[in-house]
Amino acid sequence: MSSDADHPQTARLVFGDKEIELPIIVGTEGEIGIDISKLRARTGAVTFDPGFANTAACKSEITFLNGEEGILRYAGYPIEELAEKSTFLEIAWLLFYQELPTKDQLREFRDEIRYHTMLHEDLKRFYSALPKAGHPMAICAATVGALSTFYQDVKFDDPAEQRRAAAIRLIAKFPTIASYSFKHSIGQPFMYPRNDLEYTENILHLMFSNPCEEYVPDPVVAKALDLLLILHADHEQNCSTSTVRTVGSSHANLFASVQAGISALWGPLHGGANQKVIEMLMAIKEGNRSAKEFMALAKDKNSGVRLMGFGHRVYKNYDPRARILKKACDDVLKKMGTDNPLLEIAMELEEIALRDEYFIERKLYPNVDFYSGIIYQAIGIPVDMFTVFFAMGRLPGWISQWLEFHRDPLSRINRPRQIYTGPKLRHY
Ligand code: CMC
Repeated sequence: MSSDADHPQTARLVFGDKEIELPIIVGTEGEIGIDISKLRARTGAVTFDPGFANTAACKSEITFLNGEEGILRYAGYPIEELAEKSTFLEIAWLLFYQELPTKDQLREFRDEIRYHTMLHEDLKRFYSALPKAGHPMAICAATVGALSTFYQDVKFDDPAEQRRAAAIRLIAKFPTIASYSFKHSIGQPFMYPRNDLEYTENILHLMFSNPCEEYVPDPVVAKALDLLLILHADHEQNCSTSTVRTVGSSHANLFASVQAGISALWGPLHGGANQKVIEMLMAIKEGNRSAKEFMALAKDKNSGVRLMGFGHRVYKNYDPRARILKKACDDVLKKMGTDNPLLEIAMELEEIALRDEYFIERKLYPNVDFYSGIIYQAIGIPVDMFTVFFAMGRLPGWISQWLEFHRDPLSRINRPRQIYTGPKLRHY
């Protein structure tokens, strides 16, 4: 942690004949921000920062990330410790309240979530209007948006308890929503949730059971899924979370805000990369190209090809989530007594990349999406559902950031500026 003496107390900006002092904001881990909130009023100028790579849009107490050192912590707790010792619902509570729950609080939270797992019967009919081949991310986004038509009471103007009720409903119902997008695609009946099961066991039941046969969730699979959900639970101001905050900043309700987050996550540069990684590994396995040939293409700017699951806006070091998942791949495959040749291909690509000047220079390392698909595949999740499972994991993060936005007295509607470069005034 830095002390006041380690950094200047203000920043001075010289702009034409003006010189202004800008306040400095320091985070608990010593991150320094220059407060430019009065810049335009005092100078007439705005800042220019495409992709917001240098812009902190908010203060947040939820997640700390140091990309240079490869550190990720939820409310102060290292991701490595949480991955080993915690459970997804405990993490959801931690992100909501920035404290770990007591045993009683966790039990009550779990019971409350269990109580809300069913979907309104009318909402189930919604699925039949959508093509079976439709991507499940589109179906899930549409269904989450549609929840606001069933729970119209949940508006920002309502008290905090109402916002919390929406949060509980969303965490409870999302596995049901997600599994119905899968069941719809394969023409199987929608299963009712089982409230006697733990959260991840219920997800497996919803996905893989059918009314004709008994289904018992495998504890190894349930544990692996819980780990995946924990690792995806929050990642501070990433593209989808900023989207949820931005939509929420207009005081749109939680369901509408998260619907937009799901759409943002779907893109292949963000959560959609987990599907693209496995498709890339399968293409290499099927012999379309060798790992080396593929790497040459990924470095060629004219090819339009990137090494999916590599690189990150913030991490300039190994993504700590990828490190945990790489090891978990091995463990899960061993425990399940299966093998996956895609793991070997992934490791070969990683080895080539980590020794290659192109990747070293640009500080490109495996990200969370590089190894996650191998575990999803091992536990039977269909490839086009991978990003839906990312969304399921990210829900507590989106929701807690949305709740924090509404608690924060500094929050205003998000409305960036631009530098206009079109034609000057002309007449019709
Ligand atoms: N393969 C090849 N080259 C790459 C890659 C890659 N995966 N990622 C970045 N580069 C190059 C890029 O071409 C650029 O080179 P140059 O400086 O010569 O123009 C340089 O590295 C910097 O890349 P950038 O696109 O300016 O970096 P960014 O911070 O805007 O983008 C990223 C970050 C994640 C979108 C990008 O690394 C990428 O497209 N990766 C592949 C997709 C992927 O795995 N996405 C999942 C991200 S992690 C999970 C999540 O949170 O969603």
